[in-house]
Amino acid sequence: MQAPHTLTGKTRMAGILGWPVSHSRSPRLHGFWLARHGIDGAYIPLPVEPAKFPGAVRALADLGFRGANVTIPHKEAALAACDLVEDEARRIGAVNTLVFREDGRIEGWNTDGWGFLESLREQAPGFHVKQGPAVILGAGGGARAVAHSLLSAGCPRMTLVNRSPARAEALARELSAHGAHVDVTASPPLEDAALLVNTTSQGMQGQPPLTIDLAPLPPAAVVADIVYVPLETPLLAAARARGLAAVDGLGMLLHQGRRGFQAWYGKMPEVTAELRAFVASDIPKQAG
Ligand SMILES: NC(=O)c1ccc[n+]([C@@H]2O[C@H](COP(=O)([O-])OP(=O)(O)OC[C@H]3O[C@@H](n4cnc5c(N)ncnc54)[C@H](OP(=O)(O)O)[C@@H]3O)[C@@H](O)[C@H]2O)c1
Repeated sequence: MQAPHTLTGKTRMAGILGWPVSHSRSPRLHGFWLARHGIDGAYIPLPVEPAKFPGAVRALADLGFRGANVTIPHKEAALAACDLVEDEARRIGAVNTLVFREDGRIEGWNTDGWGFLESLREQAPGFHVKQGPAVILGAGGGARAVAHSLLSAGCPRMTLVNRSPARAEALARELSAHGAHVDVTASPPLEDAALLVNTTSQGMQGQPPLTIDLAPLPPAAVVADIVYVPLETPLLAAARARGLAAVDGLGMLLHQGRRGFQAWYGKMPEVTAELRAFVASDIPKQAG
């Protein structure tokens, strides 16, 4: 008989703070890794309303949690709750991973951009960020993480395209302050783009579709979408139909969790085909 799964007096605890949090795939992701590595750990969904967030973070630390992921709408409040903040998270202005240190201090990271770069590396192995200009659709939280990480990784030039131009201009000013070449345009300059990334919620289930003609992209261009519901967005399907390399949003989601898992449970986990299939089985493949 298989031994029942039980917690012990030494179980390492972490979880995800959000409001709501029931849609999150992170418990499934971390649960897979905990089981795979035979770790005495638990990863718990933690629905916390915004007014209670700072108190909840302190309480988790006092209760002996190792840390937590943070999702909408708490990522900015999480930054304010930290005693130490990594440079990348400070630049992005948001924290998605909290580590409760043994010295009692709370450390904050943002691993979304790192997860995006790891996903690019995995799903478009021949591509390098330094290769050419990037076009980013959107200027929200996801765009901030993607844009900062691409520039840190050596992207030579970037264009932001957003429904609300003022938001894109504000982000471009901020990125340019670090010495980067960032423009804002109304229509995406695809002719010389090495990378196109959708960071808007268009194409997500229940949202309007993203309408863009990929024909002007060079044949070596890579198309990435950070939307992962559905897994195969119409943008990714159009890219594949044109023979372009396509990078899905699930990869970013899976990779962004790795650093937190290592900090809380002591093991750097891998993104394997089996993990991908396990998490993907809970997500619609196509829109509809
Ligand atoms: N794969 C991952 O790990 C990951 C991580 C983060 C986010 N995401 C996904 O990325 C998407 C965006 O998330 P976010 O946190 O960045 O959201 P956000 O901060 O609310 O930003 C949303 C962006 O989408 C644009 N947008 C929304 N509706 C639009 C429409 N009808 N037409 C044109 N533009 C529209 C917004 O433009 P305005 O500025 O004009 O409003 C803004 O640029 C979501 O689907 C989310 O699930 C995935």
